[in-house]
Amino acid sequence: MPLNPPPDSYPYPVARIGIIGGGQLGRMLAKAAKRIGCTCLILDPTPGCPAGQVAGEQIVADSHDPTALAELVGRVDVTTFDIEDIDADALHGLAAAGHRIYPDPALLAKVQDKLRQKQVLAAAGIPTADFAAADQPDAEAFARFGYPLVQKARRGGYDGRGVMIMPDAGAFSRALPVPGLIERFVPAVKELAVMVARGQDGSTRCYPPVEMRFRPGENILELLLAPARVPASVVSAAQALAVATVDALAGVGIFGIELFLTADDCLLVNEVAPRTHNSGHYTIEACLTDQFEQHLRAITGLPLGSTELLRPAAMINLLGAAGQCGRPVIRGLRAALAIPGVSVHLYGKAETRPSRKMGHVTVLDRDIEQARHKAEQVRGLIEIGGEETP
Ligand SMILES: Nc1ncnc2c1ncn2[C@@H]1O[C@H](COP(=O)(O)OP(=O)(O)OP(=O)(O)O)[C@@H](O)[C@H]1O
Ligand SMILES: [Mg+2]
Repeated sequence: MPLNPPPDSYPYPVARIGIIGGGQLGRMLAKAAKRIGCTCLILDPTPGCPAGQVAGEQIVADSHDPTALAELVGRVDVTTFDIEDIDADALHGLAAAGHRIYPDPALLAKVQDKLRQKQVLAAAGIPTADFAAADQPDAEAFARFGYPLVQKARRGGYDGRGVMIMPDAGAFSRALPVPGLIERFVPAVKELAVMVARGQDGSTRCYPPVEMRFRPGENILELLLAPARVPASVVSAAQALAVATVDALAGVGIFGIELFLTADDCLLVNEVAPRTHNSGHYTIEACLTDQFEQHLRAITGLPLGSTELLRPAAMINLLGAAGQCGRPVIRGLRAALAIPGVSVHLYGKAETRPSRKMGHVTVLDRDIEQARHKAEQVRGLIEIGGEETP
């Protein structure tokens, strides 16, 4: 058995990892897997998807395809996922049949539905924004709940799709026509994220809180600063809250906990990502153990690594330029790489689209303001264009 030592010896590969979803998160996971002697098999409908290119092995099928899921778990030692929109029931059946799947499909079922997630967190005493179920948009019910509010789709939202901020009743006409929830708008002074790894033995390792800035109206992470510029008391409170959240879910693997910080230093959990997270990409260069290796350690039963931050970091996403699509054309790469401390990651996506996540850049600098300045500079230098205009 490659898993669960003792004895402390592993035939190569150390573990065969199945990954449902083959986007950038799976790609970076597959890279980390290679480093520590694991192999990966990717399940994704796009031939040569970003993770498939690195893993070298892919089942080309929809992530909901029951036959493909059964094949995947049958060919690996442990299965994980880089997306949440998967069939938790099917995974539950495979886990019940003895296949190792982390995080637990029961946890996935709780988290992938934003209403259920909020209910589970509230029941565990984790502070969140007040919320109410909203099976469909209902002007009276929304008014009774009170504006400003935020309407969210229960399922399938990502990168802000599926989230509608409504300052007042006048915004009701923009309500999403989907089953969802409504929650109190939180006037946050900062949005923070804390990555937490939890092992099969319940041990945890927590990364430093980071600060997330979003592009107004688009909800795609625009700038990340690590560590967050907040008082030490907020750092420890945020870490304690993030660990309590993952403990409450009995999660195994890595988790991204998104938090709101209010003007009176109150912390509320916004949402839980049961996987590696955009806000943790900086850990590849900036921490002793990055989020991807940490996840692999957790799901294979290896000891968790140190989360120590080696140097302050700023990270930006590289998004497909407006009005351009087709094969990506990367402009400004030489100029960006000429800046000391800049690391560019490109995800190997065959086609760009406006605002599609095509890569990211992490900048390390002893001084976080300098790191931030360089990241802003790189944003102005690199453009991911496309060979076609729609
Ligand atoms: N209750 C709230 N009060 C204020 N702002 C909110 C609230 N809920 C969400 N937002 C804003 O909308 C953004 C997106 O919401 P949320 O994180 O729930 O959606 P998401 O689509 O899952 O995002 P992502 O996948 O990018 O993490 C948040 O980062 C925050 O800026
Ligand atoms: Mg979010």
